[in-house]
Amino acid sequence: MQNLCVFRGRALLTRWTLGFTDTCTMRKGSCCMFTSGVIGAVLLIMGTGLFVSGLFQTLIHNKLKGEITLTEGSKIFATWKNPPPPVYMEFFIFNVTNPDQFLKGEAKPHVTTMGPYTYREFRPKHNVSFVHNGTKVAAYTKKIFVFEPEKSVGDPNVDLVTTVNIPAVAVINRLKGAGFWVASGISMYMGSIGTTMFMTHTVQELLWGFKDPLLTRLKTIKPETDEYFGLMLHKNSSDDGEFVYHTGEQNYLDFGRIYTWKGEKMVSFWKTNQSNMINGTDGSSFHPFLTKEERLNVFTPDLCRSIHMRFEKEVELKGIPAYRFTPPRDTLASGKNNPENEGFCVTPKKCLDDGVLDVSVCRKGAPVVVSFPHFHLGDEKYAQAIDGISPVHEHHQTFLDLNPTMGVPVRAMKRAQFNIHLERVSGFPLTRNLNNTIFPILFLNESVVIDDASAARIQKLLLIVTLVSRFPLILVAMGVILLLVSIILAIRFYQNKPSAKKDTSYVPVSAKVDDQDEKNGTFIGMTPVDKS
Ligand SMILES: *[C@@H]1O[C@H](CO)[C@@H](O)[C@H](O)[C@H]1NC(C)=O
Ligand SMILES: *[C@@H]1O[C@H](CO)[C@@H](O)[C@H](O)[C@H]1NC(C)=O
Ligand SMILES: *[C@@H]1O[C@H](CO)[C@@H](O)[C@H](O)[C@H]1NC(C)=O
Ligand SMILES: *[C@@H]1O[C@H](CO)[C@@H](O)[C@H](O)[C@H]1NC(C)=O
Ligand SMILES: *[C@@H]1O[C@H](CO)[C@@H](O)[C@H](O)[C@H]1NC(C)=O
Ligand SMILES: *[C@@H]1O[C@H](CO)[C@@H](O)[C@H](O)[C@H]1NC(C)=O
Ligand SMILES: *[C@@H]1O[C@H](CO)[C@@H](O)[C@H](O)[C@H]1NC(C)=O
Ligand SMILES: *[C@@H]1O[C@H](CO)[C@@H](O)[C@H](O)[C@H]1NC(C)=O
Repeated sequence: MQNLCVFRGRALLTRWTLGFTDTCTMRKGSCCMFTSGVIGAVLLIMGTGLFVSGLFQTLIHNKLKGEITLTEGSKIFATWKNPPPPVYMEFFIFNVTNPDQFLKGEAKPHVTTMGPYTYREFRPKHNVSFVHNGTKVAAYTKKIFVFEPEKSVGDPNVDLVTTVNIPAVAVINRLKGAGFWVASGISMYMGSIGTTMFMTHTVQELLWGFKDPLLTRLKTIKPETDEYFGLMLHKNSSDDGEFVYHTGEQNYLDFGRIYTWKGEKMVSFWKTNQSNMINGTDGSSFHPFLTKEERLNVFTPDLCRSIHMRFEKEVELKGIPAYRFTPPRDTLASGKNNPENEGFCVTPKKCLDDGVLDVSVCRKGAPVVVSFPHFHLGDEKYAQAIDGISPVHEHHQTFLDLNPTMGVPVRAMKRAQFNIHLERVSGFPLTRNLNNTIFPILFLNESVVIDDASAARIQKLLLIVTLVSRFPLILVAMGVILLLVSIILAIRFYQNKPSAKKDTSYVPVSAKVDDQDEKNGTFIGMTPVDKS
């Protein structure tokens, strides 16, 4: 029975307890009891100490914080420069089916959704250079859109859509308050070329541009006018200007945070310094060790502002745990419901309500209003004003699933809607029956899911992080097991004390080591086999 107490460290341990060697060979039970007890206690104390001090956790966390930086040659830097997972941009366009009734003021506009028209997006960074002694990195992100017929409902060159005549509305909006005679002149000209409040174009034209007769005419008066109009005009193969990012070398919390955009630390579109702040990253990377309490900031040039996101729930994708962050209601709330947003209303007394953002200030005066699709998180009146609009949280929310340890996005869905603000403008009979309406044009879903190769690499890294930071607990567990063993042995030893001395059939341990080892060294085989 004593021979059951065999474990790999035995030889070493007997050497440690040299003085007891004699006793050991004579009284195996007490020796095993003693050594396993001592080692158990040592492991327990060491493990607890390491666990309490958090040494291993700190070590691995510091290692990660050091790795997750934008430095030349690092893996992170390579994927940052040329992101491997495919990004898809899906467009869903609202087709107006009753434009005439709406214009006469007889009915609410009725829209149907056409889509998706899907484009694969490539986003290589170029002109990447380190500045400020390598603590910051400057780069341009080019976006290239390539049509994906298999993921689309139809051919954008063929499908026709009826929507608001945005160039006309933009021109009218610009001439607001320009005086009766100017307005009448332009209005008459518009009538002569047959301009109406709605236009029908192919999806391709609406997105990527067409030559507009009104703009062409305007160009003869104001040469800097672009005679082309399109919602994504000039967006293919172009960039949003220069970004300078923190590399995260000095502080891991700064990883990927924007330092300047187009050379400025703030934008200048809005009314207050608070709303002009460029907060957070560009949404493609986040610092490691995210917490659920964190307010994540993202700056989007499309919106000309920063928005924030909050933890919603825990999710998992491709075996990687993630936190889902999503913009809460107060992100796009009006100034009266969220004082932080007061600066986004540039024209006093004409402030919009919750869930819509007037971005005309950064769209050359075109009355563009952005929101979440179907006015999700917006004031109910906006959705109620349009037939065919009904927000659903799951379908229309924007979210980011981030692995909290690494800060890596495993899935992202950026959903936004473009609208045009329609209202009556004096001097323009075309707008006579218009009610103040935020008119939806299209919404988009820009999504990305981590590729399998990156997912596998992250899984491996996460496993290493877990193992290393749990190492003290493994020591504690081993210590507890050894202590239990020594207690069991102690009980056995004292129970069998009288017979122990008579036990003369002692076989040297070495003779039995092998078959004991084959029982894979666990202590489970310690049931009283030799009891007979
Ligand atoms: C869009 O609406 C028009 C009517 O305004 C209709 O003729 C056309 O078929 C619609 N297109 C689609 C793709 O539903
Ligand atoms: C426009 O607004 C007026 C008053 O606010 C309302 O009576 C009318 O029904 C509205 N028209 C439409 C088409 O919604
Ligand atoms: C990028 O670099 C190229 C050459 O290295 C230069 O010609 C070009 O002007 C740069 N682009 C920008 C936007 O700085
Ligand atoms: C870069 O580092 C050098 C030496 O460490 C220092 O003298 C210089 O001021 C630093 N420059 C910037 C822009 O931080
Ligand atoms: C964008 O440009 C690329 C080449 O630069 C071209 O292959 C692609 O078809 C263009 N996409 C669209 C939507 O025009
Ligand atoms: C806004 O910031 C600028 C410089 O950053 C400062 O000069 C100005 O006083 C600030 N304005 C307000 C209202 O705080
Ligand atoms: C930027 O962050 C500050 C707090 O750090 C906040 O007060 C401000 O409202 C934020 N601005 C935007 C536009 O999100
Ligand atoms: C993007 O969002 C739309 C609207 O909810 C949805 O129909 C579409 O399936 C989404 N795309 C992806 C790739 O999930």
